Amino acid sequence: MNQTLSVKLKETAREYEIEIGHDSLKTIGVWARRCLSKSTKKVVLISNAKVFRLYGEAVKKSFEDAGFEVLVWLMKDGERHKNFRSLETALKFFSEKKLTRTDSVVALGGGVVGDLAGFAAAIYLRGIAFLQIPTTLLSMIDSSVGGKTAVNSAFGKNLIGAFHQPKGVLIDVETLKTLPRRELTAGFCEAVKQSALSGADLFNQTARFLENYSPKFFKKHFSDEKFLSELKNLVAANIAFKAEIVAGDEQENVSRTDAKSRKILNFGHTVGHALEKVTGYKRFKHGEAVGYGILAAGEIANNIGIFGKNELKSLNDVIGLVGKLPSTDNIEIKEIIEAFEFDKKSIDKTLQWILLREIGKPEIVNNEKISTEILQKSLNKVLKSR
Ligand code: NAD
Ligand code: GLY
Repeated sequence: MNQTLSVKLKETAREYEIEIGHDSLKTIGVWARRCLSKSTKKVVLISNAKVFRLYGEAVKKSFEDAGFEVLVWLMKDGERHKNFRSLETALKFFSEKKLTRTDSVVALGGGVVGDLAGFAAAIYLRGIAFLQIPTTLLSMIDSSVGGKTAVNSAFGKNLIGAFHQPKGVLIDVETLKTLPRRELTAGFCEAVKQSALSGADLFNQTARFLENYSPKFFKKHFSDEKFLSELKNLVAANIAFKAEIVAGDEQENVSRTDAKSRKILNFGHTVGHALEKVTGYKRFKHGEAVGYGILAAGEIANNIGIFGKNELKSLNDVIGLVGKLPSTDNIEIKEIIEAFEFDKKSIDKTLQWILLREIGKPEIVNNEKISTEILQKSLNKVLKSR
C-alpha cells in the first residue's frame, strides 16, 4: 500500500504531498498531473546517465502518457558536478526549450540531482514548479523534503542556494534495489541521525530494521512483502519527523535555539563536514562522515555530562549496524578542529553544536561551553580507537 504524507508549512500556509510506495514509477504521470497546474505542458526531466538508464524511460513514458511534453537534460554524475557550470547549462537548456512560468522541472536521482534541479527551478524566471523523485535513501528521507536547494562553489559546499519547496515528492522504494551498498550505509547514517533526534520509537524502529535487514544483503529482500512494507514504514516515519520540523521552521530561523529548530537536523554535521573537508571530499560519502559526526557528538555530550553512558552505547550500537564506514587513518584531530574553527570564522557566526540530552531530546550548545580538551578527547575516542 502506498502512503501519503504532507508538509504543511506554517508560515506560508502552503502544503505539498509526499507519496511513498513501490513499483509506482510507471504511473507517476498521473500523480504529477495532480501536483502541477492544469496549464503545465512541458517538463524538463533532470537526471544523470546512470539513473536515467535504470528508471528514466519508465518515468518519461508515464509523463508522456499523462499528456506532458518531456525534455530530458542529463547532468554529469557526482558531487563535484553540483556546481555553477552545471547550473548554467541547465538554465540554458530551459531557455532554449522555451520553458515558461507554467512549466516544470522534475528531478530524478539522488541529492545531487535534486539540489541542482531544485536550485535551477528556483531561479529560472524567478521560480518555476518542480517535483522530486528521489532514488537514494538519503534523498528519500532527507534532501527531497524541505525545500533546501543549492550548488557548491569556491565559497563552500551548499552555500549558494535558495529555499524552494517542491510541488510534490514521489518515492518508489524499489529504486533502492540498485543502490550500491555504500550509498545505503550513507543513507542509513542520516536515518540514525533523524531517529536519534526524534525519540525512542523511531530510534528502536531503525535499530530493529537494521538488525533484520543489513545493508550488506539488502537486494535479496525486495521480493519479500514484509520487507517492502517495513522499508516504506521506515522511510515514511523519517519523512514525518523531518516534515514536522520543516513545517515549523521552514527557513531555519537563525535566532532559534529550541529543540524544534530546523538547526537540529545538523546533528552530526559539524564533525561530519570537517571530516569531508580535511579529506578533500574524496574519502567519505556525506552520510558516512555524518555517521562519525553522530558518534563524536554523542561523546562530546557524554563528556560534558549531559548524555548518559547507556544512551551513548545505544547510539554506537545502531551506527555499528549501518555497515562499514571508511577508515579514519591519517586524519589529525588538530586538522578537524581547525576545519570547524575556519568554517565558523568564514561566515562570521558562533559555532553551535547539536548535542543530545537523551535520545529524542536534542540541545543546541555554544562552542564556548566545550573545552578544546573535551573536543580532543571525544574525537580521539571516535576516530582513533575504533
Ligand atoms: P548522489 O546524488 O551523489 O547519489 C549517490 C550515487 O548514487 C550517485 O552516483 C548516483 O548516480 C547514484 N544513484 C542514485 N540513485 C540510484 C539508484 N536508485 N540506483 C543506483 N545508483 C543510484 O548522493 P546522495 O547521497 O543522494 O545526495 C548527496 C547530496 O545531497 C549532497 O550534495 C548533499 O549536500 C545533498 N543534501 C541536501 C540536503 C537538502 O536538504 N537539500 C540534505 C542532505 C544532503
Ligand atoms: N538536511 C538539513 C535540512 O534540511 O535542514
